[in-house]
Amino acid sequence: MSEKPEYVPGLAGIPAARSSVCLIDGAAGKLQYRGYPAEQLAEHCTFEEVTYLLLFGELPTRAQLEGFSAELARERSLKFRIIDVLKQLPESGHPMDALTAAVAVMGMFYAEGDHVADPAFRRLCAIRLVAKLPTVVAAWHRIRRGDNPIEPRTDLGHAANFLYMLEGEEPDELAARIMDVALVLHAEHSMNASTFTCRVTASTLADPYAAVASAIGSLAGPLHGGANEVVLQMLRTIPDASPEAVRRWAEDKLARKEKIMGFGHRVYKVKDPRADILQGLAVSLFEKLGTTPIYSIAVELERQMKDLVGHKGIAPNVDFYSGIVYEKLGLDTDNFTPVFAISRVSGWLAHLLEQLEDNRIYRPSQVWTGTADRTVVPIADRG
Ligand code: CMC
Repeated sequence: MSEKPEYVPGLAGIPAARSSVCLIDGAAGKLQYRGYPAEQLAEHCTFEEVTYLLLFGELPTRAQLEGFSAELARERSLKFRIIDVLKQLPESGHPMDALTAAVAVMGMFYAEGDHVADPAFRRLCAIRLVAKLPTVVAAWHRIRRGDNPIEPRTDLGHAANFLYMLEGEEPDELAARIMDVALVLHAEHSMNASTFTCRVTASTLADPYAAVASAIGSLAGPLHGGANEVVLQMLRTIPDASPEAVRRWAEDKLARKEKIMGFGHRVYKVKDPRADILQGLAVSLFEKLGTTPIYSIAVELERQMKDLVGHKGIAPNVDFYSGIVYEKLGLDTDNFTPVFAISRVSGWLAHLLEQLEDNRIYRPSQVWTGTADRTVVPIADRG
């Protein structure tokens, strides 16, 4: 008889798919989308180009990019009844919950074709989801404070249009480019929790809106995408940037066995390459807009953590510096994770398309830990 497979908590190291979307070498700090280094994509490509690469496997030619960008721009607006749904939600609710709700109802409003077996339907869903997520996030940002949403513009790039829809002001070139690079850097990251969630939902042949809604729910947790929001709150509890104050704070947390947000990763055992680039983006924003005291605290915390737990492979991850960048761009703290979602949707959809190309429903096993073969005692006889 063959041996039963061993249970691995968190499925650490267990392959859940064969994939050609994203390659990570956690020991070397290497991240590639479809074989291209993320650093090169961040330097040379827009989010639209990277989305095309993720969805279709190759970088677009100029003509392909123009056609694809125009398609995305045309699909940015939302049906007014989706806006109506957002208006019914409690304004104290978290934007990630509003986003999950809006994406789930999108499946009802854009159901034409409604068959994931049809590649044309899958492609249209992918375009719509990438195009509309920023509009939902910006609309909810305004609706919850009593303002009307701003219609998307078709003459702006994906990142610039998102910033424009938040406050109605066209961002300058630097802000638009930095937002664009942040979107590129968050677009894909292999078999993380939300991508796995998306693939599991897709494997049941549920519609892509349901798959993406479930992925958004998974991303929201503080151990995953939600960490970017918590990092800033955490940094604000450190009294000042002096090495003594930061060291004392970190030692206290570690002694209490508390996680320090923005550090650690299942795959990376060195500093996440995205954290380095985001840190650079923060510095370039400071040159124009002035620095922020939180940044000096973050840099000192990185230094102290290296000394305290660096030998365990615990280093800054993507969420450590991203919040500092977003805050400088004027985003509300609870919009940081939604920004992660409007980028990661490209990766989720690349995985969804790949899953459906060669689908088998996910149905893992378990290790039984209960008592078997019990007999039901009728309620009248239970003591
Ligand atoms: N602070 C302090 N200790 C840590 C941290 C941390 N942030 N991360 C890991 N460790 C320690 C952990 O206590 C454990 O130590 P020991 O072996 O002595 O018990 C060891 O490192 C392994 O940790 P783990 O929690 O078993 O590792 P994991 O692979 O299950 O979890 C993680 C990975 C990212 C959930 C975890 O590092 C963590 O909770 N980090 C803080 C939250 C965070 O920043 N999340 C964002 C992740 S990156 C972007 C994304 O996924 O969205």
